[in-house]
Amino acid sequence: MLAKVLASMAVVCLVAAIITVPDASRRAKTVLAAPATSPGYTTSGEMLPPANYREWIFLTSGIDMNYSPKAPDMPDHSVFENVFVNPEAYRSFLESGTWPDKTVMVLEAREAHRKGSINERGHFQSGGAMGFEIHVKDEARFPGKWAFFSFDSSSSNGTLIPQGAPCYTCHTAHAAVDTTFVQFYPTLLPVAASKGTLSKLYLQEEAAHSAGK
Ligand code: HEC
Repeated sequence: MLAKVLASMAVVCLVAAIITVPDASRRAKTVLAAPATSPGYTTSGEMLPPANYREWIFLTSGIDMNYSPKAPDMPDHSVFENVFVNPEAYRSFLESGTWPDKTVMVLEAREAHRKGSINERGHFQSGGAMGFEIHVKDEARFPGKWAFFSFDSSSSNGTLIPQGAPCYTCHTAHAAVDTTFVQFYPTLLPVAASKGTLSKLYLQEEAAHSAGK
């Protein structure tokens, strides 16, 4: 009896394997063929959240950065800002010192905690993403080549921030390469310096800073 049951179970398993194996391989192929890192949009112009940005290239993690000299210190509230870029764009930057079309850069904020596990001093990141923004280069789509999108979460669609918003002004005036803050991305700054792609405004600002020191 037991042998019979086992035999019929084996048949069921074999049938299941025959049915599921080709299906699984077909699905895997579809995923590989999809342009996993190019920007996607809805018909109404919202940006689709990049599903796998946590597998992209990590550029930096700034903590409590603020760009106003009068910014108040907030000792009880610290935030990390992590920056990621799609791998194709990163590789292209290493070759050329600047960003190709379809570059997608993610700024993800996470809360900085002090107390947890064995930690006695310093900060670590904890909890879900509490802020999520994208800077995307899509030359055919945006008149200024680049655009900013703000997202309610890393899985919701992003809203286009209109040209003229402070995001564009500050990035254009102060960012080191092609409106991106490469001066804060330690693996990229030396590349831009050696390829001669640092912006004129950034170089003037740096010269003024060192003269004022
Ligand atoms: C006063 C200047 C300033 C303003 C205004 C500003 N940013 Fe930035 N942004 C920065 C700096 C500095 C960095 C580098 C951050 C780091 O090193 O962690 C940055 C980095 C970024 C990045 C990572 C990619 C890149 O371009 O380097 C994104 C995305 C971003 N900002 C989105 C925004 C959005 C969206 C807004 C408007 C809502 C905005 N920023 C407004 C200064 C600014």
